[in-house]
Amino acid sequence: MGNAKPTPLRAAPTESGDALPQFKTPPLDPTARRDRPNGPLDGDSQAKLWEAFTPTKPKRWSRYFAGRRWAIQRVITAIEEEQAHVVIFGARGIGKTSLANVLAESASQVEYQVLRCPCSADITFEEIFRGFLRNLPSEFMDRSARAKNPAVEHFEQLLPRGSFGPTEMTVALSYLKLEHVILIIDEFDRVNSDQLKNQLAETIKNLSDISARITFIVVGIAQNLDELIGKHPSIQRHLVAVHLPLMEAPELRALIEVGESASGMHFDDATRESVVSFAKGLPYYAQLMCLYSGRHALERGSAAVEMQDLREAMAQVLNEADPVTAAMYDMATQGERNGFMTDVMFAAARCRFDRFGAFTATDAADVSLDTDERKLRELTLHKALSTLTLPQNGAVLEKHRTPSGTTKYTFQHQTMRQYILVRQARQRGLI
Ligand SMILES: Nc1ncnc2c1ncn2[C@@H]1O[C@H](COP(=O)(O)OP(=O)(O)O)[C@@H](O)[C@H]1O
Ligand SMILES: [Mg+2]
Repeated sequence: MGNAKPTPLRAAPTESGDALPQFKTPPLDPTARRDRPNGPLDGDSQAKLWEAFTPTKPKRWSRYFAGRRWAIQRVITAIEEEQAHVVIFGARGIGKTSLANVLAESASQVEYQVLRCPCSADITFEEIFRGFLRNLPSEFMDRSARAKNPAVEHFEQLLPRGSFGPTEMTVALSYLKLEHVILIIDEFDRVNSDQLKNQLAETIKNLSDISARITFIVVGIAQNLDELIGKHPSIQRHLVAVHLPLMEAPELRALIEVGESASGMHFDDATRESVVSFAKGLPYYAQLMCLYSGRHALERGSAAVEMQDLREAMAQVLNEADPVTAAMYDMATQGERNGFMTDVMFAAARCRFDRFGAFTATDAADVSLDTDERKLRELTLHKALSTLTLPQNGAVLEKHRTPSGTTKYTFQHQTMRQYILVRQARQRGLI
């Protein structure tokens, strides 16, 4: 034992060993690309694919953004006609930041000045608004205000030197006359401080009272308005809340089409429909599956994405799944002999659901578990779904009671529904 030699974890590399992995990112110097072939699969195909399908990045521009026309219209009406401030909320990965970006793009093309501020957990009112006012130049004041404050170059200089709050902010912003400014405050769900939430509410009220030429768009993860900004009945009439739902199938098809034209790839009909059905309304997941399957098609030297590429992509999605999701799934289904909880999870993931992902035991009872159309009984499901809300079963589901007394469930974890379907796809004959 004692004289056993330690074994190296890996064989030492030899001089002639395999080359190190290389980045595939194209070089920044465009002249360096000249010698590449120009066919559909030249070196730019990868880069174009990554630009077209971006699971980890919000869309910045409308040309890459699909659907959501009603939401864009709702926000524009709120700002232009109702002179209201806007709160955009919804689940993670549903497209809130992308929507805010596209609104910013469109507003900047007309007379609005758009500024953004992403929030961190410990950001303060003063940090948000000092930075904001520093970006408003004195040219935005009218002539008389500039005459009164000749030394002022930007609005921050209108604030007192020490600390300040909503009142001082409102005074400073009352000088804003020549431009209409939109401030996008993103990731507001990260904010822990109730004080900041109260100060923001007070500011919204004050600014609405003086009809200041400024609009806030507050964005964050939440299931309802109060959860994001706190309970403030006095500002409800100055706010328009947009709860962003899951995307409809036609919107997801449009998302894929937009990506197709940006990447030069083509998804055949069966593959496109499969992506739509596995994404279950979540644009993040559609982007992920399109990117991965597109990559497999390119590896085969093809610009046409087919079912075989999607199959490979799904294996990769499973391999790279968030360990928390995988662990919750294992907790929910562990140790069973007859696969009952696996069936329950499948029925929950596959059944119809409302715009925000909620479903009932009746919905789950309608799901065929296999090609023999086997289904779970509704009574059985009532009990089984309820147990899936318990911590010892991974707390996969969350229970809600609607005002009419119906019990509804949602998945706790944003991508659990998709994970279940991908994980069970082969055994259920979905792919
Ligand atoms: N309308 C859309 N069209 C195309 N892709 C979208 C759309 N909305 C969101 N996405 C994609 O979905 C993912 C999540 O979007 P994001 O805006 O970051 O969501 P959130 O801010 O709600 O977490 C990103 O990959 C983004 O590119
Ligand atoms: Mg976001």
